Amino acid sequence: MSLSIANKIGVCGAGTMGNGIAQITATFGHEVVVYDQSDEALSKAKAGLIKIMNRLVEKGRLEQSESEQIIGRIEYTNDLNKLSDSGLVIEAIIENLEIKKTLFQSIEELVAEECILASNTSSLSIASISSALKKPERFLGIHFFNPAPLMPLVEIIPGVATDHSVTDSAKKLIADWGKTTVLAKDTPGFIVNRVARPFYSESIRMLEEGVADAATIDWALTELGGFRMGPFTLMDFIGHDVNYIVTETVFEAFFYDPRFKPSFTQKRLYEAGFLGRKTGRGFYDYHDGATNPEPNKDYLLGKYILNRVLVMLINEAIDAVFMNVASKEDVELAMTKGVNYPKGLLHWADEIGLEHVLTSLQELQNEYGEDRYRPNPLLKRMVTNKKTFFGAS
Ligand SMILES: NC(=O)c1ccc[n+]([C@@H]2O[C@H](COP(=O)([O-])OP(=O)(O)OC[C@H]3O[C@@H](n4cnc5c(N)ncnc54)[C@H](O)[C@@H]3O)[C@@H](O)[C@H]2O)c1
Repeated sequence: MSLSIANKIGVCGAGTMGNGIAQITATFGHEVVVYDQSDEALSKAKAGLIKIMNRLVEKGRLEQSESEQIIGRIEYTNDLNKLSDSGLVIEAIIENLEIKKTLFQSIEELVAEECILASNTSSLSIASISSALKKPERFLGIHFFNPAPLMPLVEIIPGVATDHSVTDSAKKLIADWGKTTVLAKDTPGFIVNRVARPFYSESIRMLEEGVADAATIDWALTELGGFRMGPFTLMDFIGHDVNYIVTETVFEAFFYDPRFKPSFTQKRLYEAGFLGRKTGRGFYDYHDGATNPEPNKDYLLGKYILNRVLVMLINEAIDAVFMNVASKEDVELAMTKGVNYPKGLLHWADEIGLEHVLTSLQELQNEYGEDRYRPNPLLKRMVTNKKTFFGAS
């Protein structure tokens, strides 16, 4: 199967992700049809794209003529039939398995045999969506990050039924759009949404225990760790509705492995409608005139906080390699390009020493007696054999 006929691309869903994906594909010269069932969503998407294009022209990043060509390549429609001559269809509608399956069944009836079908799902399995298709070998996950035109990473997720040639074609096409692609196994959270969980969960755990307040934990991770945003600022930015649901979905999908256990603190914020920036209140207060606490810049406390989050993140990155979710190189790319971590977690592990990572996790496990801190077998094996991930052994 080849993507040579993919000059025309179909995008389903004119929301945040669909419109961003349409912008990318039109920028790279494809004719694009954006389908949505809601006329309101379609007109909002078109107006949003024009606004972005105007801004790019004002900033001198695009010529006026280029901007007009990009807009001219995208057709917004509520008629699914217009997808019929697409070479690739990328779906980015509501995150609901039954609705996605129904849509793909209708699309499969319309498009050519060679057309590749992809979902941008964040949390559903590729296998479950593909079960609705007559030809599941042409289906895969293509997971963009928000905002799609700006974020360099795309996770490519073949399902159990996906044909190798489909994966290869999709990977090549998306690399041609200037994106960094990583290959992930069809497992919950793929790479980024799995490995990143402790950034939030271990920080909330320390807040709940009273180790430090949100401002201090954010300070430790940004100032001492080099992360662009602290976990509490980031969760307030993402929104607790989105971040909590991802956490809960990953936890359930891992058959309730305690490593991924959600917190009551975040659940309560979600239940109360304190969703973060967008509602004016989350871990912090965003109302005009509100004052938020200053961090306690105690260096030793900060180091303890950073180390605890970091070793948990490293353990998760190692698990992704151990369970063959992705190669060690792709795990590094995913976390630096998908969530802007200052360093790849496995390089970071080499730098602080795998023995130190193991000892820290063992100390936490001894202190709390909880399985969430169990060190990964690959970490133990590497320490025993005095190995490193990238450096000389
Ligand atoms: N927002 C993110 O940060 C993000 C990141 C990566 C992946 N995703 C995934 O991308 C997908 C879309 O997310 P989003 O944030 O763009 O959602 P969104 O709510 O902004 O947009 C979804 C769009 O789908 C349309 N829609 C719903 N049901 C439909 C149907 N049956 N047929 C046609 N159109 C339909 C809605 O009208 C809406 O315009 C989801 O699967 C989500 O998990 C989201």
